[in-house]
Amino acid sequence: MALKKLAFFLLSAVVFSTAVAATRPGSGGNSTEFIRTCCGATRYPRLCFNSMAGYANAVQEDPVQVAQLATNLTLARIGSLAGRVKQLRRGASGRVAAALVDCTEALGDAADEARRTAAELTGLEAATGPEVAWRVSNAQTWMSAALTNEDTCTDGFDGVSSGPVKAEVCRRIRRVMQFTSNALALVNNLVNSR
Ligand SMILES: *[C@@H]1O[C@H](CO)[C@@H](O)[C@H](O)[C@H]1NC(C)=O
Ligand SMILES: *[C@@H]1O[C@H](CO)[C@@H](O)[C@H](O)[C@H]1NC(C)=O
Repeated sequence: MALKKLAFFLLSAVVFSTAVAATRPGSGGNSTEFIRTCCGATRYPRLCFNSMAGYANAVQEDPVQVAQLATNLTLARIGSLAGRVKQLRRGASGRVAAALVDCTEALGDAADEARRTAAELTGLEAATGPEVAWRVSNAQTWMSAALTNEDTCTDGFDGVSSGPVKAEVCRRIRRVMQFTSNALALVNNLVNSR
């Protein structure tokens, strides 16, 4: 079931990015518009634009910077969710507590993978030849793995009966997965824009 969900996320990321990437985003020298165009290649364009528009000056009109910013924002989201899960563990017991422990581990792995994605993108503008494709491919692999680990956290709650903790964690995970899916789409976009 997790795999099916993941396949859906990956497929949509790929489909959305190929739809837009054929033409490299052009915006007539407006970084804000550039971000909007890039975000058109994602599954959650409004979330993408709203979260990144404030950084328009930092990313200029560089698709690598846009992908890296999305990755940075994803990493921050994973980190704050992990903090919240840790907090929730204090008052939890039984199956909920067990699910939260597994979730902490899965989020730790996801954060590690988002960090590796960012590392592959760092300085990519200056890379040439086969190194570019290689690093973009690695970044895609890491970001996909992060998405899988986030999904693992939700799966851990499958056997847990409904309650406020389950509801909150699953809601927050969904949001983190939206950020991650967007970052993955922006990384996928680099395949065609470079
Ligand atoms: C860029 O676009 C935004 C909104 O689309 C607009 O508010 C802003 O004035 C534009 N900036 C420039 C320099 O054209
Ligand atoms: C992403 O985060 C790294 C490490 O904090 C930073 O060096 C880099 O400038 C950030 N990139 C963007 C586009 O925000």
